[in-house]
Amino acid sequence: MKDTKDYKIATKLAHLSSRPEEYNGLVNTPVHRASTIIIKDFDGFQNCFQAPYRYGREGTPSSKAFEQAVATLDNAYNAIATSSGLAAIISVLNAYARPGKTLLLPDNFYGFSRGYCQETLAEFGVNCKYYTPMIDEEDLRAMIDDSVSLIYLESPGSLTYEVQDIGMFVKVAQEFNIPTACDNSWATPVNFKPLDHGIDISIISATKYISGHSDAMLGVVSCKDKETYERVLKTVRQSGNCPGSEEVYFGLRGLRTLDVRLARHAEAGLKLARWLQSHDAVKTVLHPALEGSAGHENWKKYFDGASGVFAVVLHEMDCKKIEKFLNNLNIFQMGFSWGGYESLIFPEQLSDWRISKPWDGDGYLMRVHAGLENMDDLQADLEQALNFLK
Ligand SMILES: Cc1ncc(COP(=O)(O)O)c(C=O)c1O
Repeated sequence: MKDTKDYKIATKLAHLSSRPEEYNGLVNTPVHRASTIIIKDFDGFQNCFQAPYRYGREGTPSSKAFEQAVATLDNAYNAIATSSGLAAIISVLNAYARPGKTLLLPDNFYGFSRGYCQETLAEFGVNCKYYTPMIDEEDLRAMIDDSVSLIYLESPGSLTYEVQDIGMFVKVAQEFNIPTACDNSWATPVNFKPLDHGIDISIISATKYISGHSDAMLGVVSCKDKETYERVLKTVRQSGNCPGSEEVYFGLRGLRTLDVRLARHAEAGLKLARWLQSHDAVKTVLHPALEGSAGHENWKKYFDGASGVFAVVLHEMDCKKIEKFLNNLNIFQMGFSWGGYESLIFPEQLSDWRISKPWDGDGYLMRVHAGLENMDDLQADLEQALNFLK
């Protein structure tokens, strides 16, 4: 298909970056493995910086195919594939971090990137300031001064799933000429396109829903314009941050079914979330698509759908009972990286670094990822295991 631009997302996902005419009729762009890329002659050597491919670390037709597909979905100038979602986040932060500069970050920021800010960037003299995810305009303005070089969003944010007022952030950031970046791993471009709402950089852990089969580590950064792209690309290239050949292939393959899988994850997640809301063992359910959850109105305003990850706060605090509950689940398993076909549950503690808590008092937080199993089986599995909390 020559041009996918006028088609709906499902058609785009099925056809983006498929070039049978270039690959002897193969519908999938093959895995290109490369470190050395031969330069034909001396003239080629002198102009190698203009060549499409120069060094395996800087990309191959496989990584380009993935990047172009994501850039098209995000309505971006271009996209950059990275070795993981965390590597994508760190590259964006590094692009704007300078001694004496300030990064404004959400309190529900993905934990490992927060560690990098607290422990590494701080040592380099970069100020990392945290705002509560549901901050209002007045308080956001109060945090801005000349040193702010990036406003970062994550919507919904890690573990507590608040959705921020994207439009408000963009309005304020543009007024002060501060670039914005948003982690969009939860929604993916199927359900939210940050750049369409004025965000400058969209970051996705493609390890999650895009690859979708729990077997690849991959990140991608979409940039709204050439200047932003070149700035982020520099930090990606200079840090040797490059995805594996199989990973970019899996990323592109995952895009083909992304909308179908996401719809199913979302349906199962919401069904479980609603049912859990009325369960005696549950204190609160943190899910952006639930009425009354933090940022629900923003979710309705900016997003086209949900995904399958959310959190449940249990009344129970006794570790022994929590252990029984978790060890008696049959389908739900414990694992860090969500977004695959299999259901996961994970006990979480909000780190001491967090400045806000979205619920009163204590309670054990469980991150739930609804996989692609039968929804009744999933509910029955949780139900029998929750009995161990009685
Ligand atoms: C919201 C979010 N962003 C980024 C990441 C990091 O992605 P990766 O595991 O690909 O490094 C994660 C991982 O769990 C995440 O939950």
